Amino acid sequence: MKILVVCLGNICRSPLAEGILKSKLPENFSVDSAGTISLHEGEHPDKRAVETAESHGISIGKQKSRPITKKDFEAFDKIYCMDLSVYEDVISMAKNEEQRTKVALFLEEAEIPENNYEVFDPYWSGLDGFEKVYQLLDQASENIKTKLLNHQI
Ligand code: 4NP
Repeated sequence: MKILVVCLGNICRSPLAEGILKSKLPENFSVDSAGTISLHEGEHPDKRAVETAESHGISIGKQKSRPITKKDFEAFDKIYCMDLSVYEDVISMAKNEEQRTKVALFLEEAEIPENNYEVFDPYWSGLDGFEKVYQLLDQASENIKTKLLNHQI
């Protein structure tokens, strides 16, 4: 099972989700992340995201931002989006129904109906915003792990 998590810049939310999911899932699952824009391509995650993950024992500092590509729709089984605008952009890149069915909102898959199933963007907030996003992603990842291991996904 190959999972791709996607946000806008791939420097805040999806790197955190990638790190958290990797820390929870067995090794036969592979997890990667990407952004819908290439503005931060090649950059490591935002230092506030790195610091927040580090405070929970998770290392994400070596990740590098990359934009999602059409090949990702073949390479991955599930593509989880952090908010509705990302979801719309990702869906518009899918070439057929099979590819579209791989795409979902991360919080919808996790059955967490908070904020219209959207993970808010902490980019313009302080460390407290990153911690809130971390907690939300941690709970969502736990729910998704349970569903995956019970073959409900
Ligand atoms: P992310 O956060 O989508 O969670 O990585 C953002 C990162 C960068 C920008 C916006 C959001 N930006 O506009 O550069």
